[in-house]
Amino acid sequence: MKILSANFVIACNDNFDIWENYSVCIDKEIIEVGKREEILKKYPNTQEIYFGKNSILMPSLVNPHVHLEFSANRTYLKYGDFIEWLKSVIVYREKLKEECQEECYKKAINQMLKSGVGIFGEISSGGDDLKSCVQAPQKVVFFNEILGSQPEVVDILYNDFLNRVKESQKYASKRFIPSISVHSPYSTHPILIKKTLSMAKAEGMIVSTHFMESKAEREWIDKGSGDFKDFFKTFFPHIPVIKPLTSSKEFLKSFIGVRALFTHALFASSKELEMIKDLGGVITHCPISNRLLNNKTLNLKLLRELKLSYNIATDGLSSNISLNMWNELREALFIHEEENLSSFAKELLKAATKEAAFALGFDSGVIEKGKKADIIAIKLPNSTKKEDIAYQIILHTNEVEKIFIDGEEACPIL
Ligand code: BEZ
Ligand code: FE2
Repeated sequence: MKILSANFVIACNDNFDIWENYSVCIDKEIIEVGKREEILKKYPNTQEIYFGKNSILMPSLVNPHVHLEFSANRTYLKYGDFIEWLKSVIVYREKLKEECQEECYKKAINQMLKSGVGIFGEISSGGDDLKSCVQAPQKVVFFNEILGSQPEVVDILYNDFLNRVKESQKYASKRFIPSISVHSPYSTHPILIKKTLSMAKAEGMIVSTHFMESKAEREWIDKGSGDFKDFFKTFFPHIPVIKPLTSSKEFLKSFIGVRALFTHALFASSKELEMIKDLGGVITHCPISNRLLNNKTLNLKLLRELKLSYNIATDGLSSNISLNMWNELREALFIHEEENLSSFAKELLKAATKEAAFALGFDSGVIEKGKKADIIAIKLPNSTKKEDIAYQIILHTNEVEKIFIDGEEACPIL
């Protein structure tokens, strides 16, 4: 048991409570939150860590959508247009995978940890990332991805997927959760969607998928036209009639009974977002990736109107320049220029903690008695007023002082 004390404790609860000169008494779970002097009096023989001037305690961050297998990318991939990016991923995929070995995974995982990420959701396409994710100090949801639109390869792809799922299930624990990801409506054959989601339903898995990320996806799924038509003609020249294999409605309907994170949803209609809300789904917002690949900003007003929860993620280094969640939060703060700075910063901090922890099925993300003690300590360069603290943290934080996961200080992997 220990006591963490700081100038401010930010609960990241629905009220967005901010308490001054507070302490959090923790074991694996949060035992009590209260005024520093009262907590110290109540637990006199317990070790206290006081983080000093301009210090803040808050729940650790959650990065619910990352592709670590692409962590070697810096300048290989082409940005500015989704289809051009996708083509470059196909060209460089093997090279990128080869270049990301143990050290590369460690660096990526450590970068997240140092920025205060205590939980992440890894989208795994091949399983080379399994060992590093099992060894990660963070809590991990390991989403084994299924991808492939061509009927002749469905069986091969499904068997490979099953093997990856089984392998990841060997390491299942309270902190390592094997799960599945359906890549997207344009890239995954309906048979594969059906089979993999039945498994998710049967095993109560939380699923991740990409949905309506690009204008090209919208046009292709709705009308069977646009840039994806040429893309499919180029990559699958043997197919006589090229058409989309599913409608967006059918795709979404296949998620009935499954809890899922729908990533991007940049080009999703209100009707689709309503459907996602009815499914109990949530949206994962990747602002930097969206800027680089699609030059579009997610309509947060619409999500709010629909009371549809969203969280924030970096996506992979295939569409980002870092896995530091503070960069992502800053980008969100900057690009959603119509939002009120102060209230939006609070919403963003909640999206990166409470909303995301819930989305991935973890009982943390809030500073509250009984929650798991996944907590970060931050120091600001100067003092700040309580009402400004949310945006000041986002503007000025890059790395955290300490990160606690289930009450234990977490250290980078060596
Ligand atoms: C496929 O493997 O079928 C596929 C891959 C990327 C985009 C679309 C389809
Ligand atoms: Fe992604």
